[in-house]
Amino acid sequence: MFEYIAENGSYRNLYRGEWAHGHSGAITVKAPADGTVLGTIPSLQKDEIDLYLQSARDAQKIWAAKPVNERARILRKAAQILDENADEIGGVLSEEISKGLSSAVGEVRRTADFIRFTADQGELAEGRSVGSENFPHFQKDKISVVTRVPLGVVLAISPFNYPINLAASKVAPALIAGNSVILKPPTSGAISGLHLAAAFKEAGLPDGVLTTVTGRGSEIGDYLVTHPLVDFINFTGSSAVGKHIAEIAGMVPLLMELGGKDAAIILRDADLDLAARLIVSGAYGYSGQRCTAVKRVLAEDDIADELAGKIVEQIGRLRVGQPRESADVTPLINTHAADYVQELIDDALAKGAKLLIGKKREGNLLYPTLFDHVTTDMRLAWEEPFGPVLPIIRIRDADEGIAISNRSEYGLQGAVFTKDINKAFYVASRLDVGTVQINGKPERGPDHFPFLGVKSSGMGTQGIRYSIEAMSRPKVIVINFQNS
Ligand code: NAP
Ligand code: G3P
Repeated sequence: MFEYIAENGSYRNLYRGEWAHGHSGAITVKAPADGTVLGTIPSLQKDEIDLYLQSARDAQKIWAAKPVNERARILRKAAQILDENADEIGGVLSEEISKGLSSAVGEVRRTADFIRFTADQGELAEGRSVGSENFPHFQKDKISVVTRVPLGVVLAISPFNYPINLAASKVAPALIAGNSVILKPPTSGAISGLHLAAAFKEAGLPDGVLTTVTGRGSEIGDYLVTHPLVDFINFTGSSAVGKHIAEIAGMVPLLMELGGKDAAIILRDADLDLAARLIVSGAYGYSGQRCTAVKRVLAEDDIADELAGKIVEQIGRLRVGQPRESADVTPLINTHAADYVQELIDDALAKGAKLLIGKKREGNLLYPTLFDHVTTDMRLAWEEPFGPVLPIIRIRDADEGIAISNRSEYGLQGAVFTKDINKAFYVASRLDVGTVQINGKPERGPDHFPFLGVKSSGMGTQGIRYSIEAMSRPKVIVINFQNS
């Protein structure tokens, strides 16, 4: 269906409603699992970026003038196209970022649901009016009519681990609010991002309302985020890059979803079978390359042995292999990522952590690895591996668990496992994170829930309604009645 995006393996950007080659360099995209060349993407330069941003600026007013029901109709059509082509697009995604095939197809279908729900939410949005007489000492002679208006051109920058879902989570709310969008997909995942753009174009999005800009973030990123035609930056990625963008973006409003070091706190009365099962799917799903992955287990000492045994058993059931086999653990996105995870493994071993399973490596494929007796002097206790390695840190009680969890620079999500609702809320209310899961694994979905990170994990709140509000603003019109 989407062959036309590429010519002879050279993928093109969506620019003014057409598929455009760049006029300077190209980046070769390879499959992380086996190095197969998947094609090239344009490496856009500053002069091209200026033109691309101008096209988004030109198109925005036309798009904003369209009634929201028309914008919603186009979003629903795009969702339908994604659903109808989920297997094809899922196949491209799976190969491009080494994600298990069934998970990749699932990501496409999840994205279709996201876009449809965004259309519905957009149509439900209502303004409000407030009378002056509500405030002390004011007469009944003013009415403020409050509506929401778009911000203009939204720069959407997405990460490699969800190049379709975490692009659409920015694009769809921005569009329904009346903004135009510049989508900068990750270099590893750009081809998948272009397929998402194609679905919106196929759905009838007017020319220029969605524009893609490919190129290495390290080369064009700063130019993009400081560009005068950008009115809002919606970024998902690492905390390092996020903080850098926040430092240089000036007065441009930001929505940032960044890194995490989510802890699962396991209290002695917890259902250990449930905890072990959810810890393993939470820690090793997509090889641990999820910002919400379980990245620390803080277990009360007197149940830690039993829990560790159950986790090892669950790890034994994971499928390790190739993305086309829909394996849970597949080769990581690149060698740099695999080497970094290896470093954390070596550091833990050198400092005396007890290896329970794993440590085996074949190229970029790291087998699910579990350490016990990890202590707070080990890097694994604090750094985000973004890979299939998990530390168990033993705690005396809930308070120690809370303290260790809150000592992290990150604050995305946390989880507490216990059968005692009072203990659950005791812990949940004291964890310094955006979301606490009680007897559940950390996760972003369902996608209408608020999703946010605090500290180094982010700025602002995502989740469909929250994202629409973040990428729009109140417009107040006050009617002053002249009482004769
Ligand atoms: P990343 O290296 O920060 O890259 C994210 C995006 O930013 C990519 O599109 C990248 O382009 C671009 N970029 C790089 N440098 C830039 C700059 N100076 N200015 C503007 N854009 C720039 O992150 P990643 O490796 O793709 O993703 C993994 C990280 O993202 C992890 O830390 C993970 O926790 C976090 N993450 C967080 C969430 C969340 O919702 N909280 C979700 C997913 C991932 P290139 O690809 O061309 O480098
Ligand atoms: O890392 C992606 C992040 O947004 C997590 O999504 O649905 O895997 O929890 P999910």
